[in-house]
Amino acid sequence: MSDFEKLKGELKVKLNHAKTSQEVDIIRTNIFGKNGLINSEFKKLGSLSPEDKKKVASEINNAKQELTKLFNDKVLTLTNSEIDEQVKKEKDDVTLPEKDFRIGKIHPVSQVIDEISSIFSEIGFSVEEGPDVESEYYNFTALNTPENHPAKDMHDTFYLDKNMKTLLRTHTSPVQVRTMLNGKPPFKIIAPGRTYRSDSDQTHTPMFHQLEGLHIDKNINMGHLKGCLNYFVKEFFEVDKIKMRFRPSHFPFTEPSAEVDIGYRVENNKIVIGEGDKWLEILGCGMVHPNVLKNSKVDPKKYQGFAFGIGIDRLAMLKYGINDLRSFFECDYRWLNYYGFDPLDVPTNYRGLSK
Ligand code: DAH
Repeated sequence: MSDFEKLKGELKVKLNHAKTSQEVDIIRTNIFGKNGLINSEFKKLGSLSPEDKKKVASEINNAKQELTKLFNDKVLTLTNSEIDEQVKKEKDDVTLPEKDFRIGKIHPVSQVIDEISSIFSEIGFSVEEGPDVESEYYNFTALNTPENHPAKDMHDTFYLDKNMKTLLRTHTSPVQVRTMLNGKPPFKIIAPGRTYRSDSDQTHTPMFHQLEGLHIDKNINMGHLKGCLNYFVKEFFEVDKIKMRFRPSHFPFTEPSAEVDIGYRVENNKIVIGEGDKWLEILGCGMVHPNVLKNSKVDPKKYQGFAFGIGIDRLAMLKYGINDLRSFFECDYRWLNYYGFDPLDVPTNYRGLSK
């Protein structure tokens, strides 16, 4: 066997065993490079006789063709297996949970809104909504608020125009009027939502949450209001008995008006709701003022009813032992992780609200 044949055989074996594109590249240079096997063999032709030259040249060309084919095949299989290997290594199973898996939590305010909605829906209330950007008319005038009422003060209300005609609603009560103007009595609704006042300390934030309640029908009286709120407070705090008192108060949109306090005591630095000799105010309420009914196109001679407004954040703080209202709105993931709720545990009355 000639040296050429021998070298060609060796390189073929090497090529066969090559496992990476880099190895193949080295063998390619050894065969087809400037000083590779083929070129070295061609260089030798000069010293041969014309007949031998022709014969050997055609042998080298055949060898070149054979090797080129072997090379192309090898490159193809190697590239395919390298791609397969890479795909195997980089394959992500998108159905698997992430390694650093963080489940989102439901904010205590959303949780409490869901809990309250569930409690009231159980006794026939439906949920209404109103806009955050409200007109001065719905926020104050339609609710029987006199022109010079302190609540209209520039210092408390965020007005959105110079003429003080548009504002960020200061309470959810305008939803009462909007609901009544939109339908026919009877009405039995709650309206949770964001409200705004120019205030900020440990128990006040410029944006906070309220929940409005309205029940208008024939022959509704204060007794119904008391029964309804008593049921609500017991369900919400998940207690069998609750100490509650109605304190006379004043709101322009209700007559008579009351504020509701619940009894509590402090045990081991924790608030125990429902008993004890301390009182905590939790909501405002009353019988809807005839002027509000008139402004809402409801005949006060035929229909009457009660309304109430609950501070949602306050209730969330009480129920879940949160001390600083401002922490509700700081968007601290660690805080939410601690105080938040499982998104799959939707609160319902029959399954339990918070447990
Ligand atoms: N809107 C009142 C407030 O923000 C709360 C309120 C009191 C609502 C009495 C009512 C009500 O519906 O009847 O302070």
